[in-house]
Amino acid sequence: MTTAIAYTEFGGPEVLHEIPLPEQAPGSGEVAIRVAAAGVNPIDAKLRSGLRPSAAITEPRRVGADGAGVVTAVGAGVDGFRVGDSVLFSGVSGAYATDIVVSARHVFARPTHVSAAEGAALGIPVSTAYQALRSLAVGAGDTLLVHGGSGAVGQAVIQFAVLWGADVVATTSDRRAERVRALGAIPVAYGDGLIDRVREAAPQGVTVAIDAAGTDEALETSIELVPDRHRIATLVRGRDAGGLGIRAFSGGSPDPLTAQQQTWRAEAVPVAIALMVAGHFSVELGPTFALADATEAHRAVEAGVDGKITLVP
Ligand SMILES: NC(=O)c1ccc[n+]([C@@H]2O[C@H](COP(=O)([O-])OP(=O)(O)OC[C@H]3O[C@@H](n4cnc5c(N)ncnc54)[C@H](OP(=O)(O)O)[C@@H]3O)[C@@H](O)[C@H]2O)c1
Repeated sequence: MTTAIAYTEFGGPEVLHEIPLPEQAPGSGEVAIRVAAAGVNPIDAKLRSGLRPSAAITEPRRVGADGAGVVTAVGAGVDGFRVGDSVLFSGVSGAYATDIVVSARHVFARPTHVSAAEGAALGIPVSTAYQALRSLAVGAGDTLLVHGGSGAVGQAVIQFAVLWGADVVATTSDRRAERVRALGAIPVAYGDGLIDRVREAAPQGVTVAIDAAGTDEALETSIELVPDRHRIATLVRGRDAGGLGIRAFSGGSPDPLTAQQQTWRAEAVPVAIALMVAGHFSVELGPTFALADATEAHRAVEAGVDGKITLVP
């Protein structure tokens, strides 16, 4: 039987339940995929709980934006894929499922170097990191401060920024400092005294900051250390950014992304895949849950775990 995970009311992880999926053939420009892994992102839980407001629920709302699997059918007008191809997909609705039909625009070939779980881990974190860095024009000569450096978004931010020639200071728990260092950033423990520790780690000064943590400390530290507020962006506290005179990319911001920013999001995943094949980019995998245990996966993402959580149908 083909199934998906959905909810019919906002609430805790327990509102997630399995629903049967009707057989769906791909339409024009679409690809049908048997899902091998679905990525679990914090936004999935924020939308489910109602923490991130969304439209009223009028029918079972499916969950999940990113995944990987094998093509089972190809719709008219799709040239790039054949039945049996290993693929990954990002930016869709309903990735927590045994099967999904998506626009071919969201589908990418998955090389053998990239496991299904790794492919499912790429979409949202990689697109967000890449778009934020491009929007802030991060490159050689910059010293970037990234808050939440040990998370999925933070790790992608560090890797792109280092590749593009920036020096990177990343906030992290002590426990996760080695992972951050291995990616090429200087780890700095978040918590009391952060500003002094960042100054010590970057005596040349910080030119640009990305907040993937969402704490007051992250915002205050960035504002204190970065001279130009137009080079500070939050990915989490979008509603507060305007009042602080800093930038926000989604994260609850009332300002939608620009067409250019959407274009950057779209180009990020193929860039990351190519870098992974070349050995210049990695994703950290975390716990795996069965699709039927999506409730437990959401408890885990809300509690915080090391590495990307994936669901396996
Ligand atoms: N705007 C967007 O488009 C967008 C896209 C993706 C994600 N986001 C948001 O960005 C945030 C991070 O997402 P993610 O996928 O990277 O999550 P994640 O993988 O769960 O990582 C969360 C990170 O937060 C860090 N953290 C926890 N407490 C902290 C504190 N007090 N100070 C600083 N850092 C702290 C954790 O560090 P330790 O484990 O070292 O404690 C961990 O690195 C989430 O709020 C998510 O909703 C926004």
